[in-house]
This record gives sequence, C-alpha cells and structure tokens, in this order.
Amino acid sequence: MEKHKNLYHPVTIGSIKIDGNLFLAPLAGFTDPAFRFLCVQEGANLTFSEMVSAEGLARKSKKTSEFLVRADNEKRFAVQLFMKDAETAMRGLPALIDNSPDLIDINCGCPVQKVIKTGAGSALLKSPETIYQIVHALRGGTDIPITVKIRSGWDSSSINFLETADAACQGGAAMITIHARTREQGYSGTANLEHIKTLKHFSSVPVFGSGDLFSPSAALQMITETGVDGVMFARGAIGNPFIFSETRYLLETGEMPPETSQKVRAEAFISHLGQCINMKGEKAACREMRKHAGSYIKGFPGASEMRKEIVQASTRKDYEQVLSAWMDLFMDSN
Ligand SMILES: Cc1cc2nc3c(=O)[nH]c(=O)nc-3n(C[C@H](O)[C@H](O)[C@H](O)COP(=O)(O)O)c2cc1C
Repeated sequence: MEKHKNLYHPVTIGSIKIDGNLFLAPLAGFTDPAFRFLCVQEGANLTFSEMVSAEGLARKSKKTSEFLVRADNEKRFAVQLFMKDAETAMRGLPALIDNSPDLIDINCGCPVQKVIKTGAGSALLKSPETIYQIVHALRGGTDIPITVKIRSGWDSSSINFLETADAACQGGAAMITIHARTREQGYSGTANLEHIKTLKHFSSVPVFGSGDLFSPSAALQMITETGVDGVMFARGAIGNPFIFSETRYLLETGEMPPETSQKVRAEAFISHLGQCINMKGEKAACREMRKHAGSYIKGFPGASEMRKEIVQASTRKDYEQVLSAWMDLFMDSN
C-alpha cells in the first residue's frame, strides 16, 4: 500500500514561522477574540481579525482599535485591514504597529456595497496598481510581513487573480490567499479549484486557498488538487472549531478523524460563551452568542426546540439550563 504523505506542515511567511498550515479566515462579525480562542485551542495555526478600517485606526476610533486585541492563547495573530489606497493604509499603520500583530493582511475581497463604494475591498481587484501601492507603502513603513487576500476577479468576464497577486508580490507581499470566487458570486456558487492551482503554480510566495471548506475532506481535496501551502477555514469553522483538529488528523494520517461528539460540541459552546462573557460582559455576550448557537447545535436531536429556547436566553445560567436539559434528554442516544 502507498505510504500516506503528511500534508500538515509548518509555513514561513516572510520572517514569521507558523507551526502548521490550517488558518482561520477573517470573518466580519464572527472572528472576535472569544471565537478565535476556541479555534486556537482546537489547532488553528494562524488567526485573522475581522476586517479593520485603516481610516478608523487613523482616526483613533475606540471601537476600531478593539478589533486589534489578541486572545490570550494566540501565538500567531494577523490583523486584516481594509482601505481604498496607500495613503489611508499608511495613516492607519502607527496604531497597528502599537499592537504588534504578527502579520498585516490587506482585504481585496469584501463584496459589500458599503465597502466597495469607498474604493476598498473587492473594488481593489479592479486596480492592481493600487494593490501594489498599498503593499509597497506598508512594506516601507514596517517590518511586519504584509499579506493579501484576493478573489478570483470582479466577475466571470474579468478573472484577474494572476494580475492582482503579481501586483501584491511586486509590492512585497509575503503570502497570497485566494478566495476562489468572483465578487459577483459573493458567497454562492462553488469556489474554483483551478484558479487556486494556477495561482500556486505561478506564485513565488506561499498561497493559501479559501472557499467551500466545510469539512476536513474538502480541505484535503483542496490541498491535493491544487498543491496550495495550506487552507483558510471560514464559514466551516463557525460553530465548529473542531474542524481544525479533525483536519490536522486527516492531513497527518490520511484517515478520517473520529467524530467529535455532540456532548463535546455542547461543552465547546458553553466555553465559547464563557470567553465571550469575559470579553463583553454577560448581557452583550448572551446576545452575541445567539448567532453562533445555530451552528454549534446543527444536527443535534431536538435542535429546533433548542434554538427557540436559546433565542430567549439572556444569562449564562439560561444557556446552561438549555444545554443541560438537552443533555438529560438526549445524551444516552449520542
Ligand atoms: C460572515 C462573513 C464575513 C466575512 N468577513 C470577511 C472579512 O472581514 N475579510 C475577508 O477577507 N473575508 C471575509 N469573508 C470571506 C471569508 O474569509 C472566506 O474567504 C469566504 O467565506 C469563503 O470561504 P467559505 O466558502 O469556506 O466560507 C467573510 C465571509 C463571511 C461569510
């Protein structure tokens, strides 16, 4: 029988060595320190902040600078910035340097109209020259490696990932992540593995793939079919930080990982709630956790009843009661 090749490995991005090749993507509204803590605990090797406005940092907005806080267990942490041009990026840089992230990532993929109309996010895909200028300017202002996250292109008639990645690398980018969808696709349709493969083939810096990573086998498939250096989990990690440990197992052994039990998932949810309370206080955390709850309990017996109860939960005790009632009812059947 052919020996399995270990596909889990360290990655060097500029001057930074990262223990493994399983990253947590930036996810606006989700990847706060509480969620990232859980993902790191389960083996995420590098985590990204939500996208942070360079303009907000320049204006010293308190709310914006809250995005720069590292979780206690985060050995490697990247801050993702969005901006329309190099000048704005540079004005935001001092506040960023004060917080010393390991990497600074540039958002060239956000499809949201509010962001695009300012010239930021995926609007940058239309101007590789601006991408070059942003990366080049930041490289001149800091030793922190600069990375760039792009999409395949603006729409199906303007697929230009090689051009935008090249502009980023000419500017000095140390890694490219490609979300292999167009801006036009948003988050629907399928990610195009051929784009990832082509980019990896031509790139002189590490390439990470993003898109449709909802299971360890999807990650394995992306790595084997495209040759990318690693993967960046996004929606697949919401309510499922175990995707990191499970994928590591699969990449290392070539065998499907043992299934994570529903009891362990329920406990992770409560632990996530605890982290969130430490960060935001009980009231805000309990509200916030409603958006994660559905994903944690997906597939649980009685999930729809539980969801109804969770919408009412406003204290840690409420959540614990819902979960423990569920365990009493269903644990034997799991
Ligand atoms: C709710 C949500 C928020 C996101 N926020 C960001 C962001 O702040 N920065 C970014 O580069 N990508 C963002 N993305 C894109 C993801 O990082 C990822 O590239 C995309 O979801 C594709 O991966 P998936 O199909 O495995 O979810 C976001 C996606 C979602 C669904």
